[in-house]
Amino acid sequence: MIVLGIETTCDETAVAIVRDGSEILSNVLRSQIEEHKPFGGVYPEIASRAHVEHLIPLIEKALIEASLSKDEIDLIAVSYAPGLIGSIVIGLNCAKSLSLALNIPFVGINHVEAHLYAAMMSSQKAPAFPSLGLALSGGHTLLVKINAIGSYTHLGTTVDDAIGECFDKVARFMDLPYPGGPEIEKLALSGDPSKYPFKAGQVKGRPLDFSFSGLKTNVLYTLKGQNTDKSGASILEEEEKKHVAASFQYAAFKDVVKKTLLAAQLHSCKEIYFGGGVTQSNALKKLFIETSPSNMVFHFPQKNLCLDNAAMIAGLGYHQFLAKGASSLTLEALPRTSF
Ligand code: KG4
Ligand code: ZN
Repeated sequence: MIVLGIETTCDETAVAIVRDGSEILSNVLRSQIEEHKPFGGVYPEIASRAHVEHLIPLIEKALIEASLSKDEIDLIAVSYAPGLIGSIVIGLNCAKSLSLALNIPFVGINHVEAHLYAAMMSSQKAPAFPSLGLALSGGHTLLVKINAIGSYTHLGTTVDDAIGECFDKVARFMDLPYPGGPEIEKLALSGDPSKYPFKAGQVKGRPLDFSFSGLKTNVLYTLKGQNTDKSGASILEEEEKKHVAASFQYAAFKDVVKKTLLAAQLHSCKEIYFGGGVTQSNALKKLFIETSPSNMVFHFPQKNLCLDNAAMIAGLGYHQFLAKGASSLTLEALPRTSF
């Protein structure tokens, strides 16, 4: 089955063509990072307009790269939630229009679920269940037990900032460009992670939930002084910033690793599937490997499937269609939803 995937939930316009859930025939995208850089984060109106401008040319490009024509597509898969509503509707309406015009079924895909599927797509062996799934991105922090593709038990999420959002905000406090995660990782390489005793938050009675906003504020006050404003000048020497970056990154990742390993123990899972932009971090991978029991198996998505992409949407679309059939044309875009 040849599936055309469309992804427009945030700041990447992405299209891919995937055969039978895992064979990637083409995977193209246009990142909007440069347009959003001046704002230090994603500017929703700019994102929507860029999707309108670039989606159709990308569909054409994906077909050319896969050497296929439109009528050879068997299914259209599109992310319909969660994300920026104005961006999602561009991809969703495009998918519905193609579905109607070409008489091809379409399926609406949950973007975060697709991030977890990306690691399964990248793995050579068949997925093992039950396993843990950990989605860490600019908009999501989610820990689930994966019972099967399409069946999940929610274990933990953030009660405030998403982890990637926290990296982006801390980077902004340090005058580092957007997206902040890779910049912090680079700076942290030469810093001392034990110099500042930062800690991520704990949620009372919910040991698998996350909280990063207190950590973010603590970093802000360390950089700019107690009770300061975000726009204030730094009170630290430039040389000191690398230690702040390393200590912040260590505190955030230590918390993620600790809670994920606790979940693995509580739910008897021996394999972990990772997804989302933050899981690109080598510092995170290293900490997981160093801290976990030696029999734990990790599945990180291949590099081009970590960040937002449409191959993961097309790949999961194949499984969802086989299990549940096509979506209805009345499917609506949702800014927030679980799966
Ligand atoms: O999955 P993604 O492309 O978009 C969302 O669905 O949000 O993830 C982007 C996020 C950004 O917040 C970015 O700062 C973060 O992933 N990120 C990182 C790293 N690389 C990307 N965060 C920490 N360390 C990294 N190396
Ligand atoms: Zn994403």
